[in-house]
Amino acid sequence: MEQWALEVREVEIRYRGLPVVQDVSIQVKKGGTVTILGANGAGKSSLLRGIMGAQRIWKGKVMLEGREIQGFSTEQIVKLGIVYVPEERMLFGPLSVEDNLKLGAYLLEDEKLVKENLEKVYGLFPKLRERKDQAASTLSGGEQQMLAIGRGLMSNPKVLMLDEPSLGLAPLLVTELFDTVRRLKTSGMTILLVEQNVKEALEIADYGYVLQAGRLVLEGTKEELLSSDMVKKAYLGL
Ligand SMILES: Nc1ncnc2c1ncn2[C@@H]1O[C@H](COP(=O)(O)OP(=O)(O)O)[C@@H](O)[C@H]1O
Ligand SMILES: [Mg+2]
Repeated sequence: MEQWALEVREVEIRYRGLPVVQDVSIQVKKGGTVTILGANGAGKSSLLRGIMGAQRIWKGKVMLEGREIQGFSTEQIVKLGIVYVPEERMLFGPLSVEDNLKLGAYLLEDEKLVKENLEKVYGLFPKLRERKDQAASTLSGGEQQMLAIGRGLMSNPKVLMLDEPSLGLAPLLVTELFDTVRRLKTSGMTILLVEQNVKEALEIADYGYVLQAGRLVLEGTKEELLSSDMVKKAYLGL
């Protein structure tokens, strides 16, 4: 049996007793990029928060490299290697770019490793190095998103989960953001990408799932999804 980097099996998540994610199963290969598509309120963020231990998993399993992690604390899950970059980015505006990055490594005790990771992030995103002493609040929207992703990388994740990273960015910056994600993919990172920008997300992803009202209604390779009538009508406006 194939061992997935991340596997979600028949998961249910509820708010006040009402299921908002039901019977959802997804698999992410090591080094793969998988996207979850779906309208506002479909349950995408709830699912990611569930994987992260920030939302209770009522049914089902979450497995990182074959190990069950549902019920673990968020801190344990970060330590084991999953990082979540939320929609809201959660940067510390008055702090410098570099200090924001260092905060992403708060669970690493080895200073040398922190330095190495900083170099890795700067290597991947040279713009962040150029701006390392600037306050995070002075960055453009696209650079802030890059910083939020860079901060996530500082804890050496095995799996990076991005929640609508293009949200609120101007069209030109959306292109730049997807270039950033593509660079990450090329670097070998395993990525779970939640997006409403269906076309761009599918261009990057190897495999995708469509979530509607908490349930998976479709899954397939990029080619399969792009040629599906449902995706064309509901998400690509064709
Ligand atoms: N903290 C919360 N308390 C109660 N209901 C919530 C909460 N967060 C999200 N929901 C509800 O759960 C459903 C899924 O939301 P969400 O996971 O944010 O969807 P998406 O990320 O796909 O837009 C929605 O109906 C939303 O109103
Ligand atoms: Mg969301």
